[in-house]
Amino acid sequence: MAIGAEANSCYDFRRKRFLFPSHCAMPSNNVHIVEHPLVEHHLSIVRNKQVGPEQFRQSIAQLATLVTVRATTDLQLRQDDIETPITVANCQILTQRIGLVPILRAGVGMVDSVRNLIPHAEVWHLGLYRDESTAEPVHYYSKLPEDRPVDIALILDPMLATGGSACMACESMLNWGVQQTKIVSVIAAPEGIELITQKYPSTSIYTCAIDDYLNEDKFIVPGLGDAGDRIFNTL
Ligand code: PRP
Repeated sequence: MAIGAEANSCYDFRRKRFLFPSHCAMPSNNVHIVEHPLVEHHLSIVRNKQVGPEQFRQSIAQLATLVTVRATTDLQLRQDDIETPITVANCQILTQRIGLVPILRAGVGMVDSVRNLIPHAEVWHLGLYRDESTAEPVHYYSKLPEDRPVDIALILDPMLATGGSACMACESMLNWGVQQTKIVSVIAAPEGIELITQKYPSTSIYTCAIDDYLNEDKFIVPGLGDAGDRIFNTL
């Protein structure tokens, strides 16, 4: 399958075979998995428990770039004539106000990569953590303004597990009045994808891998552990 293949069937991209857990609904056409040799390589690094924080951060950053390229293929452009040192060239320029919404903490590990691609993007942090005993998201920080929503919001978080945190972020975007929200992740669990596609069917999900399932502690299997702890060396 080519880069950007759509997860509109039971195809298990990681194992290169068709299978989607029977307890989860089939994902919709709004779920996009980036297939690329560089993605596979960097996934092998972030999954490796022997890898330390520096290398982990670097690979999360590379994966963030790769998945964001896929997540931004439909950004709107306007034509403009630009003077080059030689002549005038007809160019295309981004028109939308783009907001990056990193979910603290792990989402911060993706921000620089995405800002390198979209330097004029606004960054609006959302503070959410998962309660360890319930696995429910707890909101602790937001400075979203009451008006003037961005045109498109990219929710950044390396991990989509139960989907609870991403749902809370989607709700914040809806309340802000954002017209288009995309979830940009590194690994996702089928359970989280199912929740998002059911609750926010117009929200697209972009990820580098759909893993097998959540264990009894709601950790992604095989996963990569706790991305926030590994990025910030707080294990
Ligand atoms: C992790 C991860 C997501 C969330 C995913 O964050 O980075 O934000 O859990 O889980 P969910 O899909 O079940 O909601 P965590 O709560 O560990 O916070 P941290 O980034 O501060 O470590």
